[in-house]
Amino acid sequence: MTRRIGLIGCGDVSVVHVEAIRDIEGLELVGVADTDPQARARAAAATGVPGFADTQELIDAAGPDAVHVATPHDQHIGPSLTALEAGVHVLQEKPLAHTLEEGRRLVDALESAGARPGAPKVGICFQNRYNLASRRLHEMLGAGELGAVRGAWASVVWTRSADYYRARPWRGTWAGSGGGLLINQAIHTLDLVQWLLGGVERTDGHVATRKYGEVIEVEDTAELLLHHPGGITTSFFATLTAPQHRPVELELDCERAYVTLRGGTDGGLTIRWADGRVETLAERSVTSGGRSYWGVSHELLIRDFYARLDEPEPFWIGPGEAMASLGILKEAYRLSGVGPAA
Ligand SMILES: NC(=O)c1ccc[n+]([C@@H]2O[C@H](COP(=O)([O-])OP(=O)(O)OC[C@H]3O[C@@H](n4cnc5c(N)ncnc54)[C@H](O)[C@@H]3O)[C@@H](O)[C@H]2O)c1
Repeated sequence: MTRRIGLIGCGDVSVVHVEAIRDIEGLELVGVADTDPQARARAAAATGVPGFADTQELIDAAGPDAVHVATPHDQHIGPSLTALEAGVHVLQEKPLAHTLEEGRRLVDALESAGARPGAPKVGICFQNRYNLASRRLHEMLGAGELGAVRGAWASVVWTRSADYYRARPWRGTWAGSGGGLLINQAIHTLDLVQWLLGGVERTDGHVATRKYGEVIEVEDTAELLLHHPGGITTSFFATLTAPQHRPVELELDCERAYVTLRGGTDGGLTIRWADGRVETLAERSVTSGGRSYWGVSHELLIRDFYARLDEPEPFWIGPGEAMASLGILKEAYRLSGVGPAA
């Protein structure tokens, strides 16, 4: 059976979705939509499918089974709700939404829709949960192989330029993005940390705009202490002010081993056992038109979303799961007294 797919939002990240839809057997791109006529025309020409001005138009004309939503943060929930109401499955980019309130609208809509048999599903693109290293670490923690976790450290030390924000002004505004570094870049690592360590019960921390204040109103730097169940904490540092990208790092101090997870093209897992053995697991490497710091696992997530579509359960990384990282970072903003209250 071929599944008909629509793409909503034809900007930077859309190339990764187009590649995955092309490469995964049983998927066919049937239309693209973008509110910007130029972006729409470029995408239609590049993919050979019709371009539409909005989600409803695409659904009415192209009859997709699912849409991928890759729009700016403040434009996530609108297209996703339109699709859900039409009974169309949704694979939406992170974050869940630019505000908690908008995020809850999708959680609620999915809950109401979920009561019906054959109800549409919603997946949120936290593709780094599909990295070999993250999956292995999650398995080991679940099986108790590492012993008790004593504490964790995570960092996202990346670079951006003023032009990155000038090219897409929504990225630098509270109204368009709902935040800066935490909601746009470090959210993947926040999601991993809370997924691996059983959630976050309390957040301490502070965010600041250190380098790009002339072009953005949101933060480019953050330091947090995340409190997990059982009294464990993660020290979390993130910034976009570095001269070069460093690999994302996540380190767990456990009773039986010290574990280092590194992102990036030569990333993977290193387990230094207390008895002196050292085990390593290299990350997969893939070639894609996407950027290396987006990780290697978008296609794996998309493939898995479609492979599980006929199962009765909701997709495992749905809006409810995605509320966790949104909640953590919004709390950091609240504590720092920045951004709108929601
Ligand atoms: N998972 C990842 O690793 C990853 C990586 C990059 C970006 N993203 C996410 O993807 C999303 C898009 O990011 P980007 O950098 O590609 O943005 P972008 O600005 O390059 O592209 C967004 C496109 O959406 C269009 N658009 C805006 N509102 C629309 C609407 N209502 N309907 C249809 N089209 C609309 C814009 O005209 C633009 O062409 C963001 O949520 C971002 O956080 C995720």
